[in-house]
Amino acid sequence: MLRVAVVGSGPSGVYTAQSLVQMDQEVLVDVLDRLPCPYGLVRYGVAPDHEKIKSLQQNLRTVLEHARVRFLGGVRAGAGGVPVERLRELYHAVVYCVGAATDRRLGIPGEDLPGSWSATEFVSWYSAHPDAGADGFLTGARSAVVVGVGNVAVDVTRILARGAAELSPTDMPQAALTALAASEVTEIHMVGRRGPSQARFTTKELRELGSLADTDVVVDEAELALDPACADASALPAAQRRNVEVLRGWAAVPPKGLRRRIRLRFFLRPVELLAEAGRVAAVRFERTAPDGRGGVTGTGRYEEVAAQLVLRSVGYRGVPLEGLPFDVERGTVPHVAGRVVREGTVSRGEYVAGWIKRGPTGVIGTNRPCAKETVTSLLADAPALVARELPGDPLAALRAEGAEPVEWPGWLAIERAEAELGASLGRGVVKLPDWAALKAAATNLNH
Ligand SMILES: Cc1cc2nc3c(=O)[nH]c(=O)nc-3n(C[C@H](O)[C@H](O)[C@H](O)COP(=O)(O)OP(=O)(O)OC[C@H]3O[C@@H](n4cnc5c(N)ncnc54)[C@H](O)[C@@H]3O)c2cc1C
Ligand SMILES: NC(=O)c1ccc[n+]([C@@H]2O[C@H](COP(=O)([O-])OP(=O)(O)OC[C@H]3O[C@@H](n4cnc5c(N)ncnc54)[C@H](OP(=O)(O)O)[C@@H]3O)[C@@H](O)[C@H]2O)c1
Repeated sequence: MLRVAVVGSGPSGVYTAQSLVQMDQEVLVDVLDRLPCPYGLVRYGVAPDHEKIKSLQQNLRTVLEHARVRFLGGVRAGAGGVPVERLRELYHAVVYCVGAATDRRLGIPGEDLPGSWSATEFVSWYSAHPDAGADGFLTGARSAVVVGVGNVAVDVTRILARGAAELSPTDMPQAALTALAASEVTEIHMVGRRGPSQARFTTKELRELGSLADTDVVVDEAELALDPACADASALPAAQRRNVEVLRGWAAVPPKGLRRRIRLRFFLRPVELLAEAGRVAAVRFERTAPDGRGGVTGTGRYEEVAAQLVLRSVGYRGVPLEGLPFDVERGTVPHVAGRVVREGTVSRGEYVAGWIKRGPTGVIGTNRPCAKETVTSLLADAPALVARELPGDPLAALRAEGAEPVEWPGWLAIERAEAELGASLGRGVVKLPDWAALKAAATNLNH
């Protein structure tokens, strides 16, 4: 009987487990995660005010409750956890679905000034990720710059502009809700280095910015005109054309003078973060111009935008997992159709799926065919893999490695504790924000 470890319980890990049990009637799957909670970025990335997408957790849950799938939270693979080599001994096959946990860097002076954060840090904070150490994002901030025009940039911009009334029904942790409710940020500049037709956000997400309470969306017609593709949007692919149409619509309407403004800016590339009294005070941008090949060139003209808060939303990045090969350039694990490649050779019994396989792009659903491709490779290799006898149920061996697995009842106990916390605050479910609270809840099984 084939025994597989899936490392990571985000969408790619859960879809891998699902494909395995659907395509092999006997396989046993352990889904390991370093966190005591499942679902990866669906729990710790998808914005709390996007309840419909968040509810996808229910679909993922049915997979983790399958009779031949076992969730083992609190088990880290690699450094400080169970070594990759040990996992290979305990299972016939291991599928790494560890995502892309860190942020890309801008590589410009001032990037690390107090007040400058990666969107990853901000998202982790308002999502109650237990590793989110930082607080104080909004202290003293009246104007914010969000660098980048992808969907994460739209998420963080929208969360900055949302009022307490809209955030209170979400599962956002109480400290983040309190801070956002008291926020004095009224100007939010979301800035792209290329043109409006090249922005990475999707139209549905973009449009939502226009429906926020007490918030004007401001677009400068002159900046749209800098993009030759905007002159005849009909030639653009549908997704980009719709974006341009939405932006044009906003550019045509004068601001109403509402309490908050979201300014969508284009053709500005950040060159430096400027300090005042040891904190970020402004971002210096160079005006860019299209180079005719989809990129931009600098024009030698500069503009400063005042900001006491800077969120760098320029993409995520995979981190190396000790014991696995890593392509530093791409931030991914080298593979062929999901089979891990070590020094040019396919490694027996090791696979990848999701963001660590493809890089940090794609929505939740993109991970489903990606996982299926990997599982197809794995099951083709299975006859050779199952020939090896295993030492027995891996649970005891994982404990012997120092892991303290949180099994499904432990996760259900965390869910109960979050419902109780919410009720005590007069809200719905409210997430537990730190390791201590999660661990205490997970072990309180009889509660
Ligand atoms: C801020 C943000 C918002 C998003 N919003 C949406 C949205 O609204 N709609 C949408 O369709 N898509 C959204 N996406 C994209 C979507 O979240 C990704 O496509 C998807 O989560 C990638 O899945 P994954 O399983 O590869 O990685 P992840 O979801 O990151 O899962 C990786 C899992 O691996 C675990 N892990 C990592 N290292 C180890 C280790 N060493 N040992 C054990 N476990 C480990 C992590 O704890 C995590 O649970 C969003 C992405 C981001 C960044
Ligand atoms: N609601 C949703 O469906 C949802 C929500 C969140 C995330 N997601 C998905 O998750 C994935 C990751 O999203 P993301 O927003 O992190 O990444 P992304 O879509 O790749 O966008 C990154 C943005 O950063 C810009 N950028 C990169 N390097 C830069 C630099 N040095 N200086 C200035 N700008 C720079 C990019 O501009 P260039 O184009 O010029 O490189 C782009 O605008 C995407 O596939 C996204 O669709 C989906």
